[in-house]
Amino acid sequence: MADNPSKALRVILFPLPFQGHINPMIQLANILHSNGFEISILHHQYNSPDPSKNPHFSFHVIPGGLSELQSFQGDTLALFRFLNFDCIGPIRDCLGKLLSTHDHIACMITDANMYNSQAAVEDLGIPRIVLRTTSLCSFLAFATLPVLREKGFYSDDLDSRMEDPVLELPPFRVKDLRAIYIKSLDDTMKSISTIVQGTKTASALIFNTFQDLEEPDLANLREHFPLPTFLIGPFHKFFSAESSSYLTQDRSSISWLDTQELNSVLYVSFGSGATMDQKNAREMAWCLADTKQPFLWVVRPGLVQGSEWLEWLPNEFVEVISQRGYIIKWAPQQEVLSHPSVGGFWTHSGWNSVLESICEGVPMICSSFSGDQHVNSRYVSDAWRLGIKLEKGFEREEMESAIRKIMVDGEGQEIRERALRLKEKIQGFSSQSLNALSDLIVSFKSSRV
Ligand code: UDX
Repeated sequence: MADNPSKALRVILFPLPFQGHINPMIQLANILHSNGFEISILHHQYNSPDPSKNPHFSFHVIPGGLSELQSFQGDTLALFRFLNFDCIGPIRDCLGKLLSTHDHIACMITDANMYNSQAAVEDLGIPRIVLRTTSLCSFLAFATLPVLREKGFYSDDLDSRMEDPVLELPPFRVKDLRAIYIKSLDDTMKSISTIVQGTKTASALIFNTFQDLEEPDLANLREHFPLPTFLIGPFHKFFSAESSSYLTQDRSSISWLDTQELNSVLYVSFGSGATMDQKNAREMAWCLADTKQPFLWVVRPGLVQGSEWLEWLPNEFVEVISQRGYIIKWAPQQEVLSHPSVGGFWTHSGWNSVLESICEGVPMICSSFSGDQHVNSRYVSDAWRLGIKLEKGFEREEMESAIRKIMVDGEGQEIRERALRLKEKIQGFSSQSLNALSDLIVSFKSSRV
């Protein structure tokens, strides 16, 4: 205790109730716990984490509208608006109870998208730190969108400019920024502005990323967000996402990978929330068959619209699978990516997946479905040059060409070498930044007592 005054301090964390948000928040909680802090997790009743997998934390459930949550169907920002409205009362109540039973609470850490929690913590007199679970580059791009809109970027001729570069925001093309809004441009911009303002009012900002990768954008971030900022990723190098997975990871995939040749397998997974129609899923299946490359494919129940699991797969495909494919519902992804048989990753470009792939030196083929995925995929292909972005959606010729480049051709060799070089640079997460964050959390408490 005397050596480490942070020992008995408690940090309260609240993740959004989705896998790509729960994983980094639980990993951060573990990192802070190993640095001496006690941890309380507030969580939504939807996709509740399993307390027995992290018995060293205390868990507190926030009741919320479950049926509404399931009705938003891909409109992520509308979902976030609902959660902010729906959860704020229960969060305030739960925080109030925790404060009345623990006298050593230092601060709350919430997902950046939970902007309404700022009002709750201010009422109760504790500071809020924001965790941005996405890349720094995507956060900056989002923060710039309302400014671009004011300058007339979203004008009526947008459709004719889709392939043009966005001069104010390299390396984007117009279509990357167009893809970010699904329904109403007004609602999207309002949500983004609110999230950005909510972040600015926080006491500090944490990213699950690392300096070697995002250094070029750091100065820009510090200029526009002049609050203490900590890049302490990649979190998963310290704590695996296994303990926060709410789907069962199928370990038979590892035994299957053990039977495959070095760097020969294309791992295909589109994360926890993306959905696609049956036509595109069949195109993918035929493309995997035609390129004759071994593949491990995660088809999550719910991924392919209108199906329970694999009913849409053409019968002839069963033979292809028996020769060189393996399909599962959910993988131990980190272990898969670090397996020597895996030579490429066809991803939906969710930030956790991109980061996990970069850390294992696995080159990527990038699809993208929503939000930050469009930004991440552009950075992977055009800025970091660690993969190939599919520009035409699920067009057979382009998909097959990308698979050949990444897995076989000399053309992909450069990407593969670059990915390996970056992997070698990543030693683990930044303990210097973590220590600075710990000091800040300790200072919050000491300035209040
Ligand atoms: C979402 C958004 O897609 C993403 O862009 C945003 O940054 C966070 O929220 P998700 O779609 O789930 O997340 O993708 P991603 O960020 O890649 O997170 C998926 C997590 O699930 C990763 O940690 C991955 O390791 C894990 N996973 C994925 C598995 O454990 N098994 C699988 O089969 C697939």
